[in-house]
Amino acid sequence: MTPPRRQPARRRTAVLRREAVLAAVPVAVAALIGATAPAAGTAGAPGAGDPYFPLSGNGGYHVRHYDLTLRYDTSSGYLDGRAVLAARATQRLSRFDLDLTGLKVTGVIVDGLPAAHRRDGRELVVTPRHTLRAGRDFRVTVAYHGTPKPVTDPDDSADGWIPTDDGAFVAGEPQGAMTWFPANNHPRDKSSYDITITVPQGRTAVANGALLARHTAHGKTTFHWRETQPMAAYLATATVGTFDIEQYTTRDGIRVYNAVDPREAREAAPVLKKLPSVLEWESSLFGPYPFRSAGSIVDHAPDVGYALETQTRPLYDSAPDIDTLVHENAHQWFGDSVSLTAWKDIWLNEGFATYAEWLYEEQHGGDSAQETFDALYAHPAGDRLWAFPPGDPGSGENIFDTPVYARGAMTLHALRKAVGDRDFLRILRAWATEHRGGHGTTARFVRLAERISGKSLDTLFHTWLYTKGKPDSA
Ligand code: ARG
Ligand code: ZN
Repeated sequence: MTPPRRQPARRRTAVLRREAVLAAVPVAVAALIGATAPAAGTAGAPGAGDPYFPLSGNGGYHVRHYDLTLRYDTSSGYLDGRAVLAARATQRLSRFDLDLTGLKVTGVIVDGLPAAHRRDGRELVVTPRHTLRAGRDFRVTVAYHGTPKPVTDPDDSADGWIPTDDGAFVAGEPQGAMTWFPANNHPRDKSSYDITITVPQGRTAVANGALLARHTAHGKTTFHWRETQPMAAYLATATVGTFDIEQYTTRDGIRVYNAVDPREAREAAPVLKKLPSVLEWESSLFGPYPFRSAGSIVDHAPDVGYALETQTRPLYDSAPDIDTLVHENAHQWFGDSVSLTAWKDIWLNEGFATYAEWLYEEQHGGDSAQETFDALYAHPAGDRLWAFPPGDPGSGENIFDTPVYARGAMTLHALRKAVGDRDFLRILRAWATEHRGGHGTTARFVRLAERISGKSLDTLFHTWLYTKGKPDSA
């Protein structure tokens, strides 16, 4: 996870400004507008309201389930897709957006009736035949096709559908889900998924959750995957390649599915062998594993430069080392099961997964967490580590930078020292348990830590999460 050089975000803001104006209209005035033009003022917002990624996600509805049916031609890179979204309106809705970039939309149907639709940058704007009343369930079908391309993030890394020499590496954090399916693309909205992918015979398509069916006909193989637990769009995958497959069930009854690119097999084998013991060890610290499926997708994607904690089954761009395996699986608790409410809180994912690595080393013959902390604390004041405080990365450009990971983990170590090992572990476990399948915020974590420890921790968190520069005392 070495972040590439940064570069300012280029962002289209026209739609946003217009919607911001609408949002700012006082209620009475809005009602008046509504009275004169029934369809106005009930459009869903084009973003979820996250200042780091203003157009990610959408307002006005929640997606309960995505049913994605894809065909991918590995030689041409062509994707044919149909997405059926089971959604619920959270407001009266005359119009709503989905996030989608690239690809051609050939039709949109809402509740059985063709709906008007247009593209506006990364938004697919859908106007159903009839206004949807608040609280109502509705179904949207989008037919689309084209050659998906990854998005370039504010930090210059690529995510989304990333073609490889034998298929595609599909990772969506933070923005890339919209490169391969129309989504409510913000971690605030979590959904269950059915992902069905057809690829040339001999290739394997791996997604999240359980493999329900697999069949081959006319030189093509179809894989049907289902994730029943709530999942943020960025954690969905449909990675395609030539893979060796290994399947087994752990002592805890978790179904493991490992897919390994043969070019990475030799190096990956000794690390993947440790997956059951890593999951057991993590469960002993953080509470029961939050999902029923697990595993690994080890691709050979030398240009990617990072791994991702795709839900139930992390995705690696090459054979992972043990720390990376521990990190991505720790995210299953911290990041996947307990999701972000805003990208600003990214340390709740990366600081926690990094601290899991420190704990693993400490308990498996490596450096103690204190030694890891001390080695980092020795970095001089001008070091990148102290460039910004992890609780306030400032923009989407910084969310995967060193301070989020390393100083985020240092924050947890400072907490551990302040409350003692016993309460520290109780806090981590309570965090995973109380927000299981849901969402967290930094403020709630701080409150939980204070509740469990009975200590006032304001100064500690203020220093480690929000104060610029190298903290004075370790
Ligand atoms: N969450 C991933 C990890 O730390 C990193 C994803 C980086 N994504 C990116 N587009 N740079 O395990
Ligand atoms: Zn991570």
